[in-house]
Amino acid sequence: MSKLQTEALHADFGASVRGVDLSSSIDDATKDEIRELIDTYSFLCFPEQSLDDDALLKFTQFLGEPEAEHVTLGRTGEIQYFGTVGNVSDDGTKKGNAHPDTHYQTGNQLWHADSSFRELPCSLTITHAHEVPGEGGATEFVSARAAYERLPEEERAKLDQLKVIHDYVFSRSQVAPVDPAHAASLPPVAHRLVKENPRNGRKNYYVGSHSRSIVGLGGIESRSLIDELMAATTRPEAIYSHQWAAGDTVIWDNRCLLHRGTPYDADRWRRRMRQTRVAGSESGSTPH
Ligand SMILES: [Fe+2]
Repeated sequence: MSKLQTEALHADFGASVRGVDLSSSIDDATKDEIRELIDTYSFLCFPEQSLDDDALLKFTQFLGEPEAEHVTLGRTGEIQYFGTVGNVSDDGTKKGNAHPDTHYQTGNQLWHADSSFRELPCSLTITHAHEVPGEGGATEFVSARAAYERLPEEERAKLDQLKVIHDYVFSRSQVAPVDPAHAASLPPVAHRLVKENPRNGRKNYYVGSHSRSIVGLGGIESRSLIDELMAATTRPEAIYSHQWAAGDTVIWDNRCLLHRGTPYDADRWRRRMRQTRVAGSESGSTPH
């Protein structure tokens, strides 16, 4: 019998999961169950966890191959697995609203799937919240799987044939300048517009802020299809807004969800989250 207690968070996707300490060694049956829950719910929140960086990396490795963080990799060639989300430096000092890093992170306030602009985009993102603002700073999520499944059959069949270009420089340069070495490391890539989860066969389309165009369609037609799909995915009633609590460990499936940050007052609050990602696989399956 399962040790895990799950509670759904939104009609389309998402669950809160209790009954496991992610910093301890997790038995095989529970591991299988967590993988199954990821494929089913796309978003899992494990509240009241205590994960330092070592434990977070260990948990990430249990889910698959950690993905090297692209900003550092692109700028310096160095491989590191952690990203810091929020406004607290490694030395513990707070960066305010005027700091360039705070501004750079506002790019995350556009709907996106993490690293969709990579040749092989990551499958999962894992985020552990250490410090959270008393107000603001929620992360919003929507399911492109639910949106795809709501489309009429003939529309779905049309999308199945298409490819979409994802381009980091296109999306990020609208917010802040991109370092030239970083930009050169991320040329535009074409992905199938429709993805399928090989474990449960459920499909979704794959567009977000990094989507620049649809292969083979003219400028206006291409843009309006992307905008239409985005609007259908991000309708207000489709949004689950995650209000972070310190101790939350959250996993989301970038293969089928979009997310965006919401603002908070960085002069007033501290927000510190550590984030890792699991590399994608050619088959698109949930990593083992
Ligand atoms: Fe993100």
